[in-house]
Parts: sequence; C-alpha cells; structure tokens
Amino acid sequence: MIIYCEEEISAIKRSNQIVAKILAELKTKIKPGLRTKELDKYAEKRTREMGAVPAFKGYRGYPSSLCTSINEEIVHGIPSSRRLREGDIISLDFGVLYEGYFGDAAATYPVGEITPKAEKLIKVAEGAFYKSIDQMKQGKRISDISFAIQSYVESQGFAVIQSFVGHGIGLSLHEEPQIPNFGSPGRGPKIKTGMVFAIEPMIAMGDWNVEVLDDNWTAITRDRSLSAHYEHTVAITQEGLDILSLLNEEKKEIPFLKENRYA
Ligand code: MF3
Ligand code: CO
Repeated sequence: MIIYCEEEISAIKRSNQIVAKILAELKTKIKPGLRTKELDKYAEKRTREMGAVPAFKGYRGYPSSLCTSINEEIVHGIPSSRRLREGDIISLDFGVLYEGYFGDAAATYPVGEITPKAEKLIKVAEGAFYKSIDQMKQGKRISDISFAIQSYVESQGFAVIQSFVGHGIGLSLHEEPQIPNFGSPGRGPKIKTGMVFAIEPMIAMGDWNVEVLDDNWTAITRDRSLSAHYEHTVAITQEGLDILSLLNEEKKEIPFLKENRYA
C-alpha cells in the first residue's frame, strides 16, 4: 500500500477537484429527456479543456468517459442514446488522470420528481460514506470502514452490494487495499497517515444479488430493485481526513459536515 507525502496528496486533490467540478456541472444538466451519452460527451470535453484525461475510457476496454447507471443499474452503466425519464434516479461515476494522479468520485441524482423511498435510498448511500468517516484515521483497520457502512445501511432497511469494493487510489486508479462495503470490524491492514482511498458504498432497496448485462459492464440488481452509489476520494493527512473530491462550496450542503470537525 502506498503512503503519499503532502505534495503528492495535493496533486491527487487537484485531480479530484477536476472530477468534483465536472460532476457538479453534470448535475445541473440532469433532466427528463436528456440522453446519457450527452452527459458523457460533456464530461469528456470538459476534462480535456482542463488539461486532464478521462480515467475510465479504455480501462479494461470500458468504452466511455463516464458511467451512467439508471434505477436498478448499480454501477458501470454505459452512456447511450437512452433518455432520462421523470422519476428515474441516475448515478454518475467519473474519474480523471491529471498530471500523473487519479481522481474518482460518484453520486446519485434524482431526475425530476422521485418517490420518497428513492429519495431516502440516495440519502442513505451518501450517509453511509459520511458515517464511515469516523473510521478513517490512524490506528483503525480497513474493515472498520466496511463495518460502519454495512451497519448504517442495514439499520436504514437497505442492502449493501457485496460484489464491488472501494480501493486505494493515486498513481493508479485502483490500488491496494480493496475496501469492501460490508464485513466485521477490526480486520485488514491498519490505516496510516498518507493513505488515499476511494470509498464507494453501493446499496439496493431490495437484496444484494447482482447480474451483469450482455454488454459485460452494466451491473444490475437481480431483483431489479433501485440502487444508489456514492463515492469520494479521501486522504488521511496529519490534520485529519481530507475529502479530496468535495468542492468547498459543496461542504455547506452536507449537514453531517456542518456539525463536526471534518468541515
Ligand atoms: N468508480 C469505479 C471504480 O472505481 C469506476 C470504474 S469504471 C471503469 O471501479 F470503467 F473504469 F471500470
Ligand atoms: Co472507484
């Protein structure tokens, strides 16, 4: 596992701030009638304007810059001519490479008016990430993060997807360690200052079984229940946790951050 120095973490943050900025711009475009490939096209154009390179395009043959996963799609949905419809939920997962370092983040958004239960699913995916923050400090172990995510999600009546994991990130998109979103606490490597992780809970309204579509990428819930995804790249620094893929102006929108020392 790589320990990054402060300069490297600043560089990883620059990459992640590009990801965060583009995700914020994409969010404003989401509306009924929009085709997911238009989001992909915009993301790639803005990435190149900012001097970065899309991190997912060509990764293990992935064909696009952005992942767009709608409703029962969990992750790795491929942008297409499909149009968004009122009441859908869509997760956008995006990564870039900038000056040698990777950024990776994801969030799930409503399309127009959605049901209260879908709204709750989105909030619980976000909440799962913020609940796990307390575990991301020197001396804790990787599975303490996993346990915090699973306990919170299940306490809210939803299921954790078990087939996909969070990961180390920095010089590569996926580095050691793997960070499952479920499991018992106190296991796996110890967390140390200088580590950088992409934490990415994926949750479902029904059960956690997964199927992959014929495109060999799009993962969906077997029971076709709605799924939400939320991801940030974070660094464990001397001063505490830094959420590298969160914009300053977004911090005030997050009630959890307002009330505690991580703001
Ligand atoms: N955030 C996802 C991950 O870390 C995105 C990868 S998409 C891929 O696995 F196309 F690059 F695989
Ligand atoms: Co990731």
